[in-house]
Amino acid sequence: MVDLPFEPYKTKVVESLPNPSREERESALLRAGYNLFNLRSDDVRIDLLTDSGTGAMSDRQWAGMMVGDESYAGSRNFAHFESTVREITGFPHVIPAHQGRGAEHLLFSTVCRAGQIVPNNMHFDTTEAHVLHSGGTPVNLAVAEAYDTASDFPFKGNLDTAALDRLLTVEGKERVPLVMMTITNNTGGGQPASVANFTEVSRVAHAHGVPVFLDMCRWAENAFFVREREPGMAGRSIAEIGRAFFDRADGATMSAKKDGLVNMGGFVAVRDAALAERLKAAEILYEGFPTYGGLARRDLEAIAIGLREAMELEYLAHRVGQVRYLGALLDRRGVPFLHPVGGHAIYLDVRKFLPHLRDDDLPGQALAIELYREGGVRSVEVGAIMFPEMPKEERGLELVRLALPRRVYSASHLAYVADVVGRVFERRTAIRGFTMTYRPEHLPHFTARYAPKK
Ligand code: F0G
Repeated sequence: MVDLPFEPYKTKVVESLPNPSREERESALLRAGYNLFNLRSDDVRIDLLTDSGTGAMSDRQWAGMMVGDESYAGSRNFAHFESTVREITGFPHVIPAHQGRGAEHLLFSTVCRAGQIVPNNMHFDTTEAHVLHSGGTPVNLAVAEAYDTASDFPFKGNLDTAALDRLLTVEGKERVPLVMMTITNNTGGGQPASVANFTEVSRVAHAHGVPVFLDMCRWAENAFFVREREPGMAGRSIAEIGRAFFDRADGATMSAKKDGLVNMGGFVAVRDAALAERLKAAEILYEGFPTYGGLARRDLEAIAIGLREAMELEYLAHRVGQVRYLGALLDRRGVPFLHPVGGHAIYLDVRKFLPHLRDDDLPGQALAIELYREGGVRSVEVGAIMFPEMPKEERGLELVRLALPRRVYSASHLAYVADVVGRVFERRTAIRGFTMTYRPEHLPHFTARYAPKK
């Protein structure tokens, strides 16, 4: 028996799902140049492209939008947002941004110089791009288990602290502006990091005089796993577990489009007042005045409310329960995916799903295309196309991500997705490769175009 995740909410507003026919899906693929980012949402039946900014807000958040105080400076919604982030993280300086990459831009353009190195457990694509854009080199130092899709290691988001110590010993603090830790590790399967590991990351980095930052997009999901899996953590609240991370960090960036339960927004928060001043100077140049940061003030209100809702245990149990439910249905069909299931998505294991395709057949893209063709399910390749800079020997992971938007789809939708994936799996040996016909210079997965191989 597979546990049905109990929805701790009921429906108040509905949106009809598009139902494109097979012929319509075929012509949509052609129009899109086989890049699923180019599809119109009306061409998509179930949209698992991303969990970012695609969630449903609560009635309390919508009510908060109505008390938006759209003052340019000193809005009361900013005060609510600021006090909420301060309370959750303990960081005194809170700088809003229009989304996560806005926060990354502020941070890396301020602290990272050409020739420097930024270690992370695993960089997400935009984080990697911002380090590169600042002239730096992103280095991934995830533990070895993170690259083994079959391992059930509970904390695949952990960072290899011995490797970090070696890197910092060789390079020194002049060449490493900060160490980043992404919780959960999105690139590696939505996998959590443990408090014990982050404690050691923080100790090692600080011993070398290097500050530590969290990419806290999915920090509440990370805390939920810690509560379940880490010895001594079962009795703690999500807030307490969060503080076990934040108290050992010097700052954080966040895309509030994930565990902020909003459609737009983010922030960077720091402990150091002088750094905050530099970030605010960049803020005024790129995002807006520091009390709105590229957002309508009503959006800040929705973030303040959403950040708290995302910490509720019943919400998190359903959230992670949905991913586990989809995982269990796929398991029954023998579909290979990354274990254990992560907090926000199932990551199909492309090398095991399509072993007859070679790397230059773009197997991840081929699989994502087939899932759309079969049932209008939109997913995303997380592999060689999304991460072209990653050396092949380091990559190890070739994945297709089925990301679940928050509070959007029901268990029957997930059952539909499992059927679609199952049908594609049954005819997997007939799936052919693709070639890229247009490759843009930066972040190719967003705008590349493809054609089927003959
Ligand atoms: N960091 C992580 C770990 C992310 O997953 C994302 C976005 C960002 C930073 C950037 O935030 O989109 O608000 O600018 N991840 C989305 C995804 C896009 O689909 O995983 P953003």
